[in-house]
Parts: sequence; structure tokens; C-alpha cells
Amino acid sequence: MPAGSDSVKVAVRVRPFNQREKNAGSKCIISMNGQTTVITNPENGDTKSFSYDHSYWSHDDFNEDEDGVYHPASPEGPYADQKTVFNDLGKGVLDNAWQGYNAALFAYGQTGSGKSYSMIGYGANKGIVPITCEELFKVIDDNEDKEKQLQVTFSMLEIYNEQVRDLLVKTKPPHGGLKIRQNPSAGFYVEGLRAVPVRAYTEIEKLMEQGTINRTTASTNMNATSSRSHMVITIRFVQVFKNAMGQSNTRSSDVNLVDLAGSERADSTGATGDRLKEGSAINQSLSTLGNVISALADLSLGKKKVLVPYRDSVLTKLLQSALGGNSRTIMIAALSPADINYDETLSTLRYADRAKKIQNKAVVNESPTERLIRELKEENAKLMQLLQKQQGIKGGGDTSELQKMLEENQRRMADMQLTWEQRLEQARLEWERSQMPTAGAGVLQDWQKLPYITNVNEDSQLSGVIKHCFKEGETTIGRSGVSVEIRGLGILEHHVTVTNNGKALYVTPTSEKAMLIINGLRVKDKRQLCHMDRIKLGSSSLFLYVGLPSERKDRDDWSKYDFDYFMMELAEHEGVDLQTAKMADGQDQFNNKLNQEFVDLLPKIMEANAISEELKKKVKFEPMFKHDSKGIPSDIIVKVLNTETKKVWVWPKLKFLHRKDLIDSMYLSSLDGQKVSSKRAEDPFWDPVEDICLGSCLVILKSLAHHTEIDEHFALHNHHGHEEAVVKVQIMPCDQNGKSLHEDDVILEPTEMLGKPLNFVIKVQNVMSIRWVKEEPSRGIYFRYKFYDEKEAITKAVFHKTVVDLDYTMHYSIPKVTKNLISYLLNNSLVLELWGKQVSEDEQLHRRVGQQLAREESSEDLLSQLKNRETVIENLESECTDLRDENFKLKMKVDKLQQALEFAKMRRVDAFVHGAKSDDRRKSISEEKKLESSAMDVELAKAFREFFKDIKPVQQEIKDMKSKISALGQSGDQNGNLKSTLKSQEKSLNMVDENLTDCVNSLKKSVAVSLKKQKEKK
Ligand SMILES: Nc1ncnc2c1ncn2[C@@H]1O[C@H](COP(=O)(O)OP(=O)(O)OP(=O)(O)O)[C@@H](O)[C@H]1O
Ligand SMILES: [Mg+2]
Repeated sequence: MPAGSDSVKVAVRVRPFNQREKNAGSKCIISMNGQTTVITNPENGDTKSFSYDHSYWSHDDFNEDEDGVYHPASPEGPYADQKTVFNDLGKGVLDNAWQGYNAALFAYGQTGSGKSYSMIGYGANKGIVPITCEELFKVIDDNEDKEKQLQVTFSMLEIYNEQVRDLLVKTKPPHGGLKIRQNPSAGFYVEGLRAVPVRAYTEIEKLMEQGTINRTTASTNMNATSSRSHMVITIRFVQVFKNAMGQSNTRSSDVNLVDLAGSERADSTGATGDRLKEGSAINQSLSTLGNVISALADLSLGKKKVLVPYRDSVLTKLLQSALGGNSRTIMIAALSPADINYDETLSTLRYADRAKKIQNKAVVNESPTERLIRELKEENAKLMQLLQKQQGIKGGGDTSELQKMLEENQRRMADMQLTWEQRLEQARLEWERSQMPTAGAGVLQDWQKLPYITNVNEDSQLSGVIKHCFKEGETTIGRSGVSVEIRGLGILEHHVTVTNNGKALYVTPTSEKAMLIINGLRVKDKRQLCHMDRIKLGSSSLFLYVGLPSERKDRDDWSKYDFDYFMMELAEHEGVDLQTAKMADGQDQFNNKLNQEFVDLLPKIMEANAISEELKKKVKFEPMFKHDSKGIPSDIIVKVLNTETKKVWVWPKLKFLHRKDLIDSMYLSSLDGQKVSSKRAEDPFWDPVEDICLGSCLVILKSLAHHTEIDEHFALHNHHGHEEAVVKVQIMPCDQNGKSLHEDDVILEPTEMLGKPLNFVIKVQNVMSIRWVKEEPSRGIYFRYKFYDEKEAITKAVFHKTVVDLDYTMHYSIPKVTKNLISYLLNNSLVLELWGKQVSEDEQLHRRVGQQLAREESSEDLLSQLKNRETVIENLESECTDLRDENFKLKMKVDKLQQALEFAKMRRVDAFVHGAKSDDRRKSISEEKKLESSAMDVELAKAFREFFKDIKPVQQEIKDMKSKISALGQSGDQNGNLKSTLKSQEKSLNMVDENLTDCVNSLKKSVAVSLKKQKEKK
């Protein structure tokens, strides 16, 4: 490679189908020819072609030898084995290191695509990292130049959630992980990261083994899936030799080997449309890496003013030099061959294509050793000066950063001043100290003779790493203070006890709460363990039980019990019935991709539920298939239920994944001792209430094409096929005034409708058995539907009722029926959707508080109100008595008048009988009569006016009082005493009212009678 400009070397590699892809009958969409890789879109057969430095075909055409190593089936076959890949890529890394260039190798690709297989390898199929190290030591061992000292140091770290953990240290990293610092000469570095001097490949093997154990334990304890973390192995290769002048020269090379997190985590599409747009720190490194690569590619293409965002993430800070500086860099992009992963694979190919464009400038890192020490000393002196200056300034300023840099420099100087032998000896002692009480050598022998459980991880690289053996007697397993400590989600202090009686093993949960699942089934009592039992402890800790040596067969196919196997088994027993979903929709129609996505989602759902429980969030997640209008599963959605508030949300899968990252971050913070924020604005478990589509029914529209009426009850089914409610729907052809058509208007041939107007009404009437409201009475429902190209119709919403008379009518008037409309009517159904409404928590709280206050207020106020009312009633009673008196007086007056009238009449008769008939006399009688009558009329009218004037407000007041009392009585907010007082008040008020009405009526009657009599007499 010419110094000066080095393009990033890019290779792609396609792996064999995995078991799940085989089961799903996947098709291979990748083909390769020389350096070219072609991907075929499974939907339309379109192909896209990419060219890389290497395109490795590791999909098929290989054999496994007796040691388990894969080789090409024929010498000229296309299969690229681990050796081929090492020869092309690893050897280059070694050569570079030898020459004093920094080198870096990245593995990129979606989860399970084969990154770790290429980097680390599996079993006998060793990957680039071990082979490179092995080869490096071969060269070192062959070195005969006694003047030449070859030093190798090894470090291994993991970045998860933007926190750095030293994988060579067993203890928990400090709060927030190890710090990243910057040094003018060394650039970014991890403070306190162990760089272990090694003298042989076997030591690296041991370190890697320990690193993997630490990674697995951390992953279980933090519930951090390793496929979401980045692993960086750094091998520093230093050659100290005498140059031609006899001076000591130091040539060094940093080789960074990076196994990246699954690339599908980088996309933040899940955040689109989500209230919580901020991504979690879990994906920050990977998404920043993408941005850095794009920016570097732009720079290489001549774009100006491009800012490379190295500082945006921990990973890109640490790899700044490897990516865009002094390094010869290789990227290996791992590909899945399966059609179901088309989108991800295409995105990987594009990513790799971009990386190809990056140009680096690698230089040989070689200087006289003296100079290196001098430079380091000078830098030290400068830092000292700066520090003293800072400390001298009044008020100080923060000098901790400077101090740390100084410490790092001093450490490096100390290292340089020690002989290599001394450093090796120091490392050996440290290793022994740190390894004392490990699961190391002793356990290695134990598991060969004792029964044990071994971990099963989502990342197959980490599966089988941890083994817990069971000696004869009892072994307790739990979170702490037990023989075997496991800190996974949902593990109790003392979770289960395993008893080994020498012949058989039994497991017993310690309590009802101890979640123990064996082979997919919940176990609550003592149960014998059988070889190859699948065990789930708590919410997410999975183990495979390996029985007594006598039970183990020679070639047990243990590998079949991988993470996928566990998930499928659990899915079937934990209520998620994939089989039913398949049967319901027909195996043929069932989408394999969806099925795979569903199984992939399950562990995340389980984890989210477990974290929710641990953080006491009272939220339950449930994955569901969403069906299209033909009833075929079309997507995966996640139902989210707050078990306390009974609020329900439905999230698209991507939104759930985005929230899951935030949930994980929240959980990690809680593990770190931070207080979990209860602010809704930041809470990934919460959202404002939204309307939920509960279910739907299909109303076939064919009848309308014949002008016949539809009048039926339809059951509305939810995603599970369960009934949500029953609705009566009427679709009635009519004239333009909405009048229903006559029976004679039925048409046999729908085309007769062509060009003619069509009028009809859609009626949504009674809705019954509304489950949504039955479950929580504060909820409401409404309907939505869309007819043809009319705008979507939405009915009114009704709350609190499980039986609703919706009484919804919509008149459709289509001026001219088209062919399309006829075809629509003949082939489609009206999809009537039932939507659920919810009252927001705030509103609910408001109401509750309001009611509470009202209750408290009414208890106090009601007594005083009642007192007032008693006075009012007393007043009314006395008014009533007055009115009675008045009435009585009026009656008396009427009687008197009547008597007077009688008397006058008698006199008149008397005069007539006695012949005293004279004109004068007649005149006087008539005038007398007139006078008497008008006097009586005026007096009576006056009295009545007065009376009714008085009585009207009294009657109104009584009416008001009655309705107030009855409203109070109905509100049901009173206690027993108040209730009975209220009742008696109501009773007495009723009596007053009745009496008064009686009085008025009788008065009216008597007045009417007297007026009548008067009239007759007149
Ligand atoms: N070239 C290959 N030949 C045979 N098997 C392979 C190959 N590549 C990958 N596999 C198998 O595929 C599975 C997944 O591979 P691997 O663990 O390397 O994926 P990964 O990309 O590292 O996933 P993760 O992101 O979870 O770490 C493993 O069981 C591995 O053995
Ligand atoms: Mg991996």
C-alpha cells in the first residue's frame, strides 16, 4: 500500500441460512461474482450491483471436517472459509502492524449477520482476531534478533449506552463508565483501561475468554443485549530495536479490532412521529459512526466544509484515528442471505459502499526511544507548568482534567522506564490476583463431571459462556447471599434451590413469586430436571440444563437449543399463539417476514414488561398482528396497557423499539443508582391518551347494487378475533328526500344503475355489549367508516354506556353512478371501525378531585343548606297558613256576597208576589242589582288578583326547592344521616306543595261556582 493515501478496504461476506430462515423456507437474494455482489429485490426481482475489494461467498458449497472446521466443498469452489478471509484481510493487518502502521478492522452488519463469526469465530472456526494474534506470536517466537524486543499489550473494552467498560476487569465500572480523556499526543483514550502485556498467544486466549465471561455477566446483570454493544479489542504491538546508528528505536502500531453492535439499531425511524424524539444513548455510537463515515466519504470526494462529528459519540472519539487519520482500515460487512432481510442487507451494502470512499493517511509510527521519552518528559513539564499556573490563579478553575493528563503521562513514562520483563511480571501478578476466586480452571473441570446449567444468550457468541455446576446437596440460586448469584431481571434474593442427590436433580422455587419456567411451562413446585431442559429464571435469564455425565450422549445436538428455540417455545406457552395466527389466516398467506419479526420482538416485549414491573410502572406490553381489510396480518403492533389507569395505547413496532431503547436507558440509570424520573414529558412508558381502534366489521355492499336494503346486526371483532361489541347497521336505498324505495325498485342487473343517481342512507343504530366500556366505565366509543371516495365519516362519541342508541344517519347522494362505483359495491365491504375514547388521566383526576371536594363540601355545606331550607320551608308553611286564612276570608266574603245576593233575590220575588210593581220600583231594583253585582265583581276580581300575585312566587319557590332537593338526593353523595334528613325535608315540602295546590284549586273551584251561579242569576 502506498503511504500517503489509503482507501478504506471493504469486504462483504454472506453467511449460510440460519435455522429460522431455513424453517421459513427463505430464498437467497445475494449472488457474487469476483469482487461484485448483487442483491435481488424479492418483491419485484430488481437487482442492484456493488463492487468491493472482496466479496466473500460463505453461504453454501462447504463441508465440515471431523474437527468441525468448514472448508470449501471443492478446491475451486466459491466458498470462502475463515482462512481465506484471514489471508486477505488479517495478514494485511499483521503486515501493517509489523511496519509500524496503525491498523483497524471493523465488522458491520445487522444482528446475527456474522460479524462475530468473522472477527472472533466459533469453536474450531477461528476468526480474524485469534488467527491474527496467533500469527503475530508465531513471528515473535521466530524472532532471533536478540537486540529486537517485541512487545504486545492487549486490551478489550465494551461500549454500551455510551458507557465504557473494561472487559478485562471483573468489577463493576465506576458510575457512568470509564472516562474518555484527550491528550495532545495520544488523542482520545480511556482513562484507567487495562493494557495487559502478554508474552504468548495462549495468554491472549485466556484474556479473551475472561473478557467474554465478563461481557456475558454484565449483559445479564444490566439486561443489556450484547448485540447492542460494541466490542473493541486493541493490540498494541511495539518493536524496540537498534537502528543503523546504534540508537534505540521504537516502532509501534495500534491494531483496533471492532465488533460493532447490530446495525439495525442505528436507524432512528422509530422516533418518527413519536412524542419522545430524542434517541437513547444506546444507539448513539452506531448512528454517529454512520455520520462520521458519510462525512469522511464526502471529504474524500472533494466536498469542502464538512464537519466530521467524531466528538458526538464514545466510539467515534476512540476510533478517530482509525477512521479518518493515521490508520490502515478495513471494514467487513456481514450479510444475511435471506429474502426477509432484504431491506437491512441493502442498507448494509450501501453503507459499505460509502465506507469504500474514505481515504486515510497512515504513517509509520517510528521514533528513537530517547526522543519518545524526551517528548513525554517535555509534555509532562508543560502540563505541570499549566497546572501550577491554573492553581495559582485566584479562584482556581478546574484542574482535574490537567491532573488526569499528567497522571496518564506519568504512567506511560513509568511503563517506558520499566523493562519489558518487569512489565510482564507485573501483569502476571495482577492477573493471578484478579483471577483468584474465579469460575476458571476448577469449574472447567467441574462441568465435565457435574450436572450444570449454562447460559443462553441472544448473541450466540455469548451463549454457553457461563456454567453453574451442582455438587451433591443443595445449591441456592438468587440475586444475593446464595451459592449462585444471578442478577437478571425479576430474580429474587433467593429464587430457587437445586437439590442433587447423586442420582437425580430437583429444582424448587422458593415462593409463589419466584418465576421459574421449564420448557416453556411455569413451575411452582419441586420438579425433577432432565438433560437439555430449557430453564428461564426471572424475566429474562435463560439456561440450558446439562445433566449428569451418564445422561449426556456422545453427540448431543445442544446447539439446536439456541435463543430462537427458547423464544418460540416461550411464545407458544406465554399466550402468544403463533400457531393460531397461522391457522387463522392460512399458512400460505402468513407472511414469513412478519412471523420472524414477531419472534424477534418477543424477547424485547418480555424485557419491557419485566422492567416495567421492576420500575413499578404498571404498564403491560403485548404484541399483536394488525390485519388489513381482508383479514390478513399486515403488520405488528404493540398494545400498551396501564393496568392502574386502564389507559390503552397502540404503538407501531418501530415506536415500541424506540421506546424500548429509552426504557433500557431508564433501567440502566436506575441500576446505576439514579432516581427514575417520574416526569411524564420524559417517561417512555407514558403517552397522552389517544383514540384506539377496537375492532371492525365488514358490511358487504352488494345489496346496494341491487337497490335492496341491508338491516342487520354485526359483531365487531378485534385483532385477536374476539368480539368487542355488536352493532345494528342499516343501509337503505332511498330517493333524494331520504324516503325509502318501493319494493318494485329492486334491480336485477346492477349496470342498470349506470349514469343514474344513487341515494341511500347509512344508519348506525344500536350498539350492544361494548366490552371497552364494560372494562372501564369512564370510556366512550364512536364509529368511523369510509364509503368509496366520500370523505371519512365519524359518528358522535358516547361515553359510559355499554348499550348505546347511536341514532346515526348519513344520507349519501351520488349524482351519477359510474362503472367503478358499481364494481366497488359488488366487490367491497364497508369497513365499520369501532373506536374507543378515553378520558385523560388529568381529566379523570380533575373529576375525581372535583367529586371529592364536592363531597367534602357537600357534607359541610349540605347541613347549612338544609338549615336554610328548613327556614324557607318554615316561612313557606307560615305563608301557606296566611294564604289559608286569606282563602278562608275570601271564601267568607264570597259567602257573604252570596247571602246578600240571595237576600236581594228574595226581596225581588217578594215585591213581585205582593204586586208592588212600579216603574220606579223596577228601576230601583235593577239599579240595586247592578250595583250589588258590580260591587261584588270588583271586589272578587281584586281579591283574586291579590291572591294570585301572592301565590305565584310561593309556588315557584316550592317548585325550585323540590327540584334542588331531588337533585341532591340523586347525586348519591350523602351519607346515611343526611340522606334521611333530606328525605324528610322533601316529604314535608311535598306536603306543603300539595296543601297549597289544594287550597288554590278549591279556591278556584269555589270562585268558579259562584261566578257560574252569578251568571245564571243574571
Ligand atoms: N460464515 C459463516 N459460516 C457459518 N456460520 C456462520 C457464518 N457467519 C455466521 N454464522 C453463524 O450465524 C450465527 C450468527 O453469527 P454472529 O454471532 O457472528 O452474528 P453477529 O453479526 O455477530 O450478531 P450480533 O449482532 O448478535 O453480535 C452464528 O451462529 C454463527 O455461527
Ligand atoms: Mg456478534
